[in-house]
Amino acid sequence: VSPYLFSYKGRCFPVQELMNPKDLDALQHVDVRPSDIYMITYPKSGSAWMQQILVKIVDAAHPDMEEEADNRARVPFLEGNTLDDFRRERPDPRLYATHLPPDMLPTGLKAKGVKVVYVMRNPKDVLVSLYHFSHSWKMLETPKSFEAFFQDFMDGKVYMGLWFDHVRAYQNEKDKMDVHYVKYEDMLKDLRGEVVKVCDFLGKDLTDEAIDHVVEMSTFKNMKTNPKANYKDLVEKQRYSSPTMRKGVAGDWKNFFTVAQNEYFDRVFEEKMSDLPLSFTWE
Ligand code: PPS
Repeated sequence: VSPYLFSYKGRCFPVQELMNPKDLDALQHVDVRPSDIYMITYPKSGSAWMQQILVKIVDAAHPDMEEEADNRARVPFLEGNTLDDFRRERPDPRLYATHLPPDMLPTGLKAKGVKVVYVMRNPKDVLVSLYHFSHSWKMLETPKSFEAFFQDFMDGKVYMGLWFDHVRAYQNEKDKMDVHYVKYEDMLKDLRGEVVKVCDFLGKDLTDEAIDHVVEMSTFKNMKTNPKANYKDLVEKQRYSSPTMRKGVAGDWKNFFTVAQNEYFDRVFEEKMSDLPLSFTWE
């Protein structure tokens, strides 16, 4: 697709160590335990946020498990890791993260009824967040202009391919996997309410105080200064040139989209998504 992205099974992946067809295929054989919890997202949809929420819920529900490691280690991403490397020998419940589409997931996931939390974000803000991330992450090509990046996003020539396909594919899994859908904008509006729903879905019965603590630890303000939650080490290691905790708001797309781009986006969204029972808060 470009010197930075290769296409595999209809999606784009960064040209990166351990991210190649053989290693991606190997992930289908990851051992799966029924108690595993998977957090799945299209990039820039709130992955780090949900990683923190899940870690804090598990800490509260299983105080004996509380760990010093950061969230990258506690909720490791499947892709970009080897089969041995994502800390498989952990006590239950093991948390995992991935941006992979459903057909590339470990096959045991459905068979064992693993609980999946799928986080979605309004795609105009995903586009803007990914635009900035493409300037930050060394593995991605720095966009030539916002206009050029906008078109690449609409054509699926970006990390993990078309947003529309990813979201549709997971909507189609509703009856096939044990999935709870969360929207980024709903978390912005009522973080506590969404945390409670995730606890209910996972069957974790937390006290009100414990839920308050999860919420407090997961605010943008607190995560921004918490090196365990904000991927700061990747900035220190110069893999990112700017913090992944950037703005954390809804509606930033308005600062970037032209009227024509917005109209085009709305048309494509309508064409591709109107048959799905899905709606987004745009600002
Ligand atoms: S990645 O690289 O795909 O894993 O990125 P991801 O974590 O999915 O998305 C990054 C965006 O999520 C925002 N973020 C938050 N927003 C609100 N509250 C909290 N606590 C929070 N944590 C992360 C982050 O700022 C990125 O969005 P933008 O719009 O770029 O600010």
